[in-house]
Amino acid sequence: PAVLLLNGPNLNLLGHRDPAQYGTTSLADIERRVTELGAELGADVECAQSNHEGVLVEHVHRARDLDGVVVNPGAFAHYSIALRDAVDAVDTPCVEVHISNVYAREEFRHTSVTAPVMQGYIAGCGVTGYELGLRAVLARIAERRA
Ligand code: DQA
Repeated sequence: PAVLLLNGPNLNLLGHRDPAQYGTTSLADIERRVTELGAELGADVECAQSNHEGVLVEHVHRARDLDGVVVNPGAFAHYSIALRDAVDAVDTPCVEVHISNVYAREEFRHTSVTAPVMQGYIAGCGVTGYELGLRAVLARIAERRA
């Protein structure tokens, strides 16, 4: 299966940004780990990151030709109806990942407008959440094929 690992705004700063919340692992390291895990599990992982809502929407549209998406929408999870509608519009299973435990943080992070249209949701597991997200989306893909 072909899986897109998609990261939203400010996640290009991982490793430097607020290490107490997000750890010290860089996005490049995360992308490498997930790609390697994908290879072990027989999945082709493609990685993309953007700070722009419309670009993320277009990546989700492109995922119509792929088998699954693991996405950390960053702050867009909390208010981007456009990103939610994009995920809703495609048939490709998407799993949402947040590195931090958003429920232990500010109230505005407790809402995800994207979560209801996802096939799964992972938060608070640190960067391991991305690996869990890949395993989860692959399980969804296998279920659909069964
Ligand atoms: C985040 C949580 C969001 O609230 C925040 O805006 C981010 C990162 C996370 O991975 O924990 O950018 O998505």
